[in-house]
Amino acid sequence: MQNHKRPPASLLFIFGGSGDLNFRKLSPALYNLFIDNWMPEKFGIVGIGRTEFSDDQYRQRLLEGIEQFSRRKGKANGQWKDFSQHVSYLRMDAENESEYQKIAELVKAKEQEFGEHPNVIFYMAVAPQLVPDIAKKLGPLNICADTKCTRIVVEKPFGHDLKSAHELNKLLTGMFDEEQIYRIDHYLGKETVQNILAMRFANALFEPIWNRNYIDHVQITAAETVGAEGRGAYYEQSGALRDMVQNHILQLVCMMAMEAPVSFDANEIRNKKVDVLNAIRKITAEDAHAFAVRGQYDEGWMKGEKVPGYRAEKNVNPQSAIDTFAAVKFYIDNWRWQDVPFYVRTGKRLHEKTTIITVQFRPAPNYAFPPESAETWRPNRLVISIQPDMDIRLRFQAKRPGQFMTLNPVDMIFSYKDAYDGDEPEAYETLLLDVMEGNATLFMRSDQVEAAWKIIMPILEAWESRQPVDFPNYAPDSWGPEDAEALIARDGHNWITLPAPHQE
Ligand code: BG6
Repeated sequence: MQNHKRPPASLLFIFGGSGDLNFRKLSPALYNLFIDNWMPEKFGIVGIGRTEFSDDQYRQRLLEGIEQFSRRKGKANGQWKDFSQHVSYLRMDAENESEYQKIAELVKAKEQEFGEHPNVIFYMAVAPQLVPDIAKKLGPLNICADTKCTRIVVEKPFGHDLKSAHELNKLLTGMFDEEQIYRIDHYLGKETVQNILAMRFANALFEPIWNRNYIDHVQITAAETVGAEGRGAYYEQSGALRDMVQNHILQLVCMMAMEAPVSFDANEIRNKKVDVLNAIRKITAEDAHAFAVRGQYDEGWMKGEKVPGYRAEKNVNPQSAIDTFAAVKFYIDNWRWQDVPFYVRTGKRLHEKTTIITVQFRPAPNYAFPPESAETWRPNRLVISIQPDMDIRLRFQAKRPGQFMTLNPVDMIFSYKDAYDGDEPEAYETLLLDVMEGNATLFMRSDQVEAAWKIIMPILEAWESRQPVDFPNYAPDSWGPEDAEALIARDGHNWITLPAPHQE
């Protein structure tokens, strides 16, 4: 990992150029990089799609996305005209091999215009099933043999299961060097997620107690209020465990549990993370019920609005057995974490949009205060809020002012909003800049992806072999099914959410 510098000349081809991901995330991110002076001096962005657009129509469409979804709203930033001159549209049928020559020609033309050979980046913002075919057709182009300058960016989901992920890795590594492949997990680009490394490894305070001797358990909640959001066709093939746990949440587990890296080199960080994945105890399909809970949302009310159940969403099977909620208890079998549970949960249509990580410390070993002071006594707790608020809070016991020795828990809070001025970059800004610079630290290596699939495969297999009998099993605006409460309550714990004022 290194500080960003302005990248060299780059040419980005976005497959799925007229699609949603580009509209909502990629184009707003690229425009913000431009405003902040991070785009290369010479660059081109080429959206690729089947839909008919002139360059101007295409730019207009992207501008609409930017106005709606950029962290900076609207044309107010005044640089759209300059930025949009770098954007063009290439209509092509990605299934037709002969059309790929158009790409090679465009690269040549840009080379002449720039007076140098740019980085050539192929971004796969397409449905996952299209990736292998596009990669197969791209691979033979001469530019792809340039292992230094040509890169391919692959969105999640990376494969549908261990077997397909392995096949996709084989296909991609047959055509590109591992260094050319950027497997995106956008959680890793989030500011607060990156800050976990800073907090753990740039301070002397936390690391000595960051282990089984002091930590009772760790929780990760990634809750969303949205439902299938018109993505029924995708979600029917996915479900919460594949969509969130296999990638984002396991990556958060890695950030929390990894050993200290000896450098911030991309492979060093990824080695330390893959060690965590390899140490996660394999749950067997027979035991899955004791470690994992699935749920699906029913129809009901969400903040005063009637919302349909998952099975009534567009492009969803009315008898669907897909999980819209998943909770899992993991153990990491190594010296640092043996017997410390990591509880994770994620779901759609839950009570709040919030991602938080909680580290629950063990109780103090001795307690000499008078019994009457003990009423509100609580063990220490560290809560890292990833979103929507970005803060870190450490709970400890303090004496209440007054003539009684009464203790109560208080929070020491570091809030990004209060500590720093200005907007934080969006995850996609950081990650796109990394790709242009050629820094793969925050991207998944092939072995990481496969190790993560190995962990969840037995749960998926158990769930697929046994149809859920109680679906739908949770109401919108709740915290998921009761079984998820039982999963953690069995160990004497409960799921932690932050008090309401924090969420407003
Ligand atoms: C995506 C999932 O990877 O992450 C979505 O496919 C989910 O289903 C999204 O909504 C959540 O991302 P964020 O950044 O809003 O937490």
